[in-house]
Amino acid sequence: MADITREKILVLDFGSQYAQLIARRVREQNVYCEIVRHNITADRVREIAPMGLILSGGPSSVYDEHAPQCDPALFRLGIPVLGICYGLQQMTRHLGGEVLPVATREYGHAEITLAKKHPLWENVSETTRVWMSHGDQVKGLPEGFETLAGTKTCTNAAIGHRTLPLLGVQFHPEVTHSDEGTQMLRNFLKGICGCHGTWRLDDFARLTIENIREKVGDRRVICGLSGGVDSSVVAALLSRAIGDQLSCILVDNGLLRKNEAELVVDLFTHFFKSDLHVVSGQKRFLDALVGIDDPQEKRRRIGKTFIDCFAVEATKIENAHFLAQGTLYPDVIESGGSPDGPAATIKLHHNVGGLPKDLQFELIEPLRDLFKDEVRKLGLRLGLPEEMVWRHPFPGPGLAVRCLGEVNAEKLAVLREADAIVLEELRRADLYRKTSQTFAVLLPVRSVGVMGDARTYDNAIAIRSVDTSDFMTADWSRIPYDVLARMSTRIINEIKGINRVVYDISSKPPATIEWE
Ligand code: XMP
Repeated sequence: MADITREKILVLDFGSQYAQLIARRVREQNVYCEIVRHNITADRVREIAPMGLILSGGPSSVYDEHAPQCDPALFRLGIPVLGICYGLQQMTRHLGGEVLPVATREYGHAEITLAKKHPLWENVSETTRVWMSHGDQVKGLPEGFETLAGTKTCTNAAIGHRTLPLLGVQFHPEVTHSDEGTQMLRNFLKGICGCHGTWRLDDFARLTIENIREKVGDRRVICGLSGGVDSSVVAALLSRAIGDQLSCILVDNGLLRKNEAELVVDLFTHFFKSDLHVVSGQKRFLDALVGIDDPQEKRRRIGKTFIDCFAVEATKIENAHFLAQGTLYPDVIESGGSPDGPAATIKLHHNVGGLPKDLQFELIEPLRDLFKDEVRKLGLRLGLPEEMVWRHPFPGPGLAVRCLGEVNAEKLAVLREADAIVLEELRRADLYRKTSQTFAVLLPVRSVGVMGDARTYDNAIAIRSVDTSDFMTADWSRIPYDVLARMSTRIINEIKGINRVVYDISSKPPATIEWE
């Protein structure tokens, strides 16, 4: 990957929810970027030889007893540094300036006025709207620094060293609320760090395909297909790389959406020319779920049954040496799986992570350098259809998660139909791409209704739809009433056993996206 990652930027993570966003914004400028621990040593940085460093924001105050600190020697490497919010305060503090708390925490839009001409302000307006979120501010500049921009309440909204490539901004250029933030980041990367933009997905695809060919040789690779974006893109890459040495396994657990298994098979047989094994596991999964209403226990049983089905099928595939997985860069960061990355916070949970010991494969994870939006772009470049690449996420344990209480075939049939209606109406209203995830949930509560002249006593369906960029936080989608009305009327009229439809208006947090 050497040529396209030659120009590298490191983002030092001080615990900010925005560190990944910064990295994605850098990649959007075609510059390769990795997130590393905030306390990476200057020696290690010198070895990696990045073109620039970005110090992220973070929830701490630089004066907190356990505030994360960077290695002060970073500022003497001669590598350009951009400190953002907490990152700016770190730089100020380590270089002898003064950071003080403000009377009230500033949160929201602010207007900065540029104080002087600077490469960071190339093609940026004299006054421009930015997004602030901070409790501390730079009061005294470190020696050699000058003010580059200010607001009414924050004199040093941007500062820079007069002769060294050290810069800091109090606001967040990486969020879209900062109108010209992208231009500022571009200026830092191209004008100050000297990056040309060598990170191209086409080159990534070409090099990855070459690497896979070399690694696999004449052996065989197994890939689990779920119908989701990640596994489809992995399969597409492998199919390009090794063609008929790829065997894909689709476990139909009976918990998929309406027509989903058929769609995946259809797409697969048209698009890929590789070997496909479909395991019909519907009965096994239903049997495993009899009498179980605890959500965690449901997940455990579904996971175990999946592994069993997958493992049995895998043993039928001769000369299989590798297992391909759709691990993405955020999974690598969060699992602590990258050597310089931030410490582990969340455990990885792969669908096939628990394969039995006597069935161990060497892993191939061709997407482990990519963010989700890059995976989607790559999928399109590899020729996958739009509707596949832009599918809403779907949990591994499928509809069982959305069928509250005990799961059985009848309940699943009701939920599957309701879900299909919700998605059909959503698409008809041209809202599928505008919402991040939309689905139906079957509630095992019965209430009285009236249909024709008769009294009914039936279950309810909840419609859930959210807007989010990271699925860690989410807001409920403002779906127009007439679209909700069509969904509701059709569900009640067309599905026996449902007499009430409700719309979930909770955001995450405190709610989650799924019900369970
Ligand atoms: P929650 O409900 O925690 O969900 O807000 C966040 C996102 O994760 C998806 N999700 C899963 N995805 N396997 C998956 O691949 C799972 O077991 C799983 N559980 C939840 C969920 O659909 C949402 O997009």
